[in-house]
Amino acid sequence: MTTPLYCAEPARRHTAQQLAERFALPLVTRRPVEGYWLELGPERLELVTVGKQGAVFAEFVAGAAKHRREQGGGRGQPVAKAIGLKGAEALPLVVDATAGLGRDGFVLATLGCAVTLVERSPVAAALLADALDRASTHPDTMDIVARMTLVHADSAQWLSSLPDAERPDVVFVDPMFPDTGKTAAVKKDMTAFQAVIGDDLDSAALLSAAIGAAKNRVVVKRPRLGAPIEGVKPSGEQVGKSTRFDIYSIKALRGAAS
Ligand SMILES: C[S@@+](CC[C@H](N)C(=O)[O-])C[C@H]1O[C@@H](n2cnc3c(N)ncnc32)[C@H](O)[C@@H]1O
Repeated sequence: MTTPLYCAEPARRHTAQQLAERFALPLVTRRPVEGYWLELGPERLELVTVGKQGAVFAEFVAGAAKHRREQGGGRGQPVAKAIGLKGAEALPLVVDATAGLGRDGFVLATLGCAVTLVERSPVAAALLADALDRASTHPDTMDIVARMTLVHADSAQWLSSLPDAERPDVVFVDPMFPDTGKTAAVKKDMTAFQAVIGDDLDSAALLSAAIGAAKNRVVVKRPRLGAPIEGVKPSGEQVGKSTRFDIYSIKALRGAAS
């Protein structure tokens, strides 16, 4: 089902038009009375619905992103280790193949990595484009988001058609799993996002494309006790309090295949 885009702000109608064209969203002139829709307000783009359910938006400047930026723990944090950030070694080029609301991608860009955010849902991609735009004019975030590039595409196809010279060092994957682990962990305020995006049932194909494209490793984010993606077995893992990172080292996989 397509999610409409509504804008009540005359001053922002041009931006709404651009978002609708870029992400093929139907632009409506009346606020919907049922279902979910994207609404462009004076400050930001939000995914909303009738009733009490919280609005969903991507955010890199304030709130949790600000906290993570200031207190996130830098290269000591588990995700930094999982993608292989070490000492003075060059920063990896990362493809975040399941960009979502860009929280993981933003952490990686805060650590200094150049990150290509690939997102197939037009709703999530539009929310990301809006947040990137807002962050690009704020002094605290402009340098970080300058390292982030948004691509609206299916990652399995996009990664498979990457020219050799553009292959990333690391592909990061965090799919929405239909199992109890991730679904149970979905916070209340993310209900709308979950309802609109749905489960990602094709993660095995994405993992295989990611392994084909990454030069060094693929990192899959999972709930601590969740099953790994079906298919290729991880060559390592990094377990945290609630999250586990399954690591697919390209070198180890090549060694196992020869
Ligand atoms: C669990 S969310 C990711 C959350 C994200 N890591 C964050 O920090 O906000 C999964 C997202 O991946 C996207 N996705 C899943 N499979 C994809 C694919 N093959 N190509 C592009 N996007 C994909 C979904 O549309 C969804 O927005």
